[in-house]
Amino acid sequence: MPRLFIAIPIDETVTKRLYEVARTDQNTWRRVKPEALHLTLVFLGEIEETLIPRAIHAMNLAAAATEPLTLAAEGLGAFPNERRARVLWAGVTGDVAALINLQSALAARLEENGFDLEDRRFHPHITVARSREPSPLPARPDRSTGFGQWRVTEIQLFESHLGAGGPRYEVRASAALGGRA
Ligand code: 2AM
Repeated sequence: MPRLFIAIPIDETVTKRLYEVARTDQNTWRRVKPEALHLTLVFLGEIEETLIPRAIHAMNLAAAATEPLTLAAEGLGAFPNERRARVLWAGVTGDVAALINLQSALAARLEENGFDLEDRRFHPHITVARSREPSPLPARPDRSTGFGQWRVTEIQLFESHLGAGGPRYEVRASAALGGRA
């Protein structure tokens, strides 16, 4: 069964900077490749191929009801904490209230269409590196650095292909915000 999630794609100028900032000499850390960077809205997990049209339908409804927005990647943080981190992430600023509304609308439309979502609070972030074991954060520049803004005009359904070299993400569908094609 395909492993799926719905996310916001990020402009190339921003992904290039995010990839640079996540550079580290510590080999426990693996950077997310620029083309794989994204902002996850909903993780669906493994879904029957036959249910994908329903997910796309829910995605189209939520996207059509949302105007395009502007986001920026700014600052760095860690999950679960900075001393024993597994994930290094960039924060998100800009039209965050609209982003949160989009995420709740998407979750609501998916649930109405029969998807059982994880009961997790939405913490908007962009994962830029992952560590194989809990580790202190890699050395990095000023954490309040901005990595640039971009215009969000669509959301995408991604399939995650897990592999030895890290996951590869394939775009299965796109839905334009504001109902624009
Ligand atoms: P992360 O970036 O914080 O790891 C694909 O795995 C995307 O779905 C990632 O962006 C990941 O978030 C997100 N995701 C959310 N919940 C997940 C889960 N339970 N398992 C794997 N990925 C999850």
